[in-house]
Amino acid sequence: MKRIVVIYESRYGSTRRYAEWIAEALSCSFYEKDIFKPEDFTNYDVVIYGGGLYAGGVSGIKLLTKNWELLRDREVILFTCGLADPEDPDNTAHIRKSLSKVLSPEMFEHLHLFHLRGGIDYDKLSFVHKSMMAMLRKSLARKDRDSLREEDRQLLDTYGSCVDFTSKESIQPIVQCALSL
Ligand SMILES: Cc1cc2nc3c(=O)[nH]c(=O)nc-3n(C[C@H](O)[C@H](O)[C@H](O)COP(=O)(O)O)c2cc1C
Repeated sequence: MKRIVVIYESRYGSTRRYAEWIAEALSCSFYEKDIFKPEDFTNYDVVIYGGGLYAGGVSGIKLLTKNWELLRDREVILFTCGLADPEDPDNTAHIRKSLSKVLSPEMFEHLHLFHLRGGIDYDKLSFVHKSMMAMLRKSLARKDRDSLREEDRQLLDTYGSCVDFTSKESIQPIVQCALSL
């Protein structure tokens, strides 16, 4: 029986929800990144890490990059959670490109990578995040709507409201991957 752990960092709860669902499906423990001690990686055969996407970066990814010596001999699954639809290959290509700037080729090769869709509730955003989204909206609103990508049109249409794309079924490929390792 493989020893599996799920670790996550989540600002507004979507990644946490996925971490909880995955841990429940695999009957394993899950930890918030800041309470997980890296030396405990050695207690597991499979490490699943999930982080929310913020301006292209994966929240808390340093836990993996800084502790690669402990992780290189274990199976590592990384899942991202963002607003952009991961069914659109342009979106996943963009995430992968950003990841390639923080992960070494060895890390990239070793990881099993998955992308899940979160949501956003503008009322709950921090001041800084609200301002960042307002700037993004402003720059998109200046452009010709027909020239925008579907993602960006959707962002303009839902700006200021609450949208939630989390779906329990979407964890299945991650669960199957963890069980097959
Ligand atoms: C300031 C800001 C930047 C964001 N940047 C991205 C992004 O680059 N790509 C993306 O898909 N989603 C982006 N999002 C949406 C979040 O990834 C989404 O809300 C996700 O569900 C957050 O997960 P969490 O609540 O677990 O932190 C951004 C949200 C905010 C507030």
